[in-house]
Amino acid sequence: MNKKIGVKILGTGSYFPEKILTNSDLEKIVDTSDEWISTRTGIKERRISKKNEPTSELAFKASIEALKAANISPEQIDLILVATITPDMLFPSTACFLQKKLKLISVPAFDLSAACSGFIYGISTAKAFIESGLYKTILLIGAEELSKITDWTDRNTCVLFGDGAGAMVLSASQENDDVLSVFLGADGSYSDLLFLPAGGTVCPVTESTVNEKLHTIKMQGKEVFRAAVPKMVLAAEKALELSCKKLKDIKLFIPHQANMRIIEAVAKKMGISMDRVFVNIYKTGNISSATTITALDEAIKTGKLQKGDIVELVAFGGGFTWGATVIRI
Ligand code: ACO
Repeated sequence: MNKKIGVKILGTGSYFPEKILTNSDLEKIVDTSDEWISTRTGIKERRISKKNEPTSELAFKASIEALKAANISPEQIDLILVATITPDMLFPSTACFLQKKLKLISVPAFDLSAACSGFIYGISTAKAFIESGLYKTILLIGAEELSKITDWTDRNTCVLFGDGAGAMVLSASQENDDVLSVFLGADGSYSDLLFLPAGGTVCPVTESTVNEKLHTIKMQGKEVFRAAVPKMVLAAEKALELSCKKLKDIKLFIPHQANMRIIEAVAKKMGISMDRVFVNIYKTGNISSATTITALDEAIKTGKLQKGDIVELVAFGGGFTWGATVIRI
């Protein structure tokens, strides 16, 4: 009998644009304060991409790092998956733009849209493709430029978001099985609490949609907050159960970095002390699908995680979508 194909995580990488936008910079743009933003969200600064620096460019730079960390040549990649809600264009996919930059012509490439849970959905997709035997080595990216779909006159949203990209290389293995579990969920009935109204088929772009700024993020922050905490707890507990691990086995929890108060509430409800929870929101803001992977990459690079450690990633976002995964790095 053939042995089940396992998934090995070969390496991770990340990239942030150079420009830093601080809370005091924002004080000059909208009626806000460093004190309000810090206490309500935990964010102190975020990165902002250049005009001529599309999402695929951030994805490319993060991918190069991940390929280096994985110690493989790009030619070994046989599928490219990009989780994003800020694609270069509606089509072609950002994955196709990335494929061109990586010079991997003919390798299949597609985007995946699950908002802030995008990277967890991506891990689930990569795991399924590898286990099925269809693809052997997958480049998975979470990349966003939320600054480009932000209404910079709306203080309710513009203080929250940032830009960045993270990448992971996953490969088929007979010896390893590093993705111990994945749990996903969604509820489309909440689609009007966090969304981008114009630019799709419901509301094609017209002069009036632009004037009304319907091409920028709209969010009912309080309602999103209220839903995020229980769903993240549910996802984290389910993924833990499916992995057959216990809380004590998890070296580090890496939650979606949307709001420090959400992170603390989730940790408290799960009974996890904050010293086991990774936080970098103060310098990144919310970068949607890129948060968990860039945080994981930072935790690895700064020595907070060692080879063999077990980590849990958990996220919640527009859709609503939610998900968690227990992985061994
Ligand atoms: N500066 C100063 N005051 C502000 C600002 C600001 N930047 N933004 C809002 N306020 C004001 C409001 O106008 C309001 O004033 P009012 O009482 O006079 O009306 C007051 O502050 C309180 O506003 P709330 O909305 O009640 O503030 P809250 O404590 O809920 O925090 C926040 C708002 C930070 C948005 C929070 O609700 C949140 O983090 N929500 C979840 C966001 C999230 O998780 N998104 C997830 C995914 S994103 C994705 O999928 C792309």
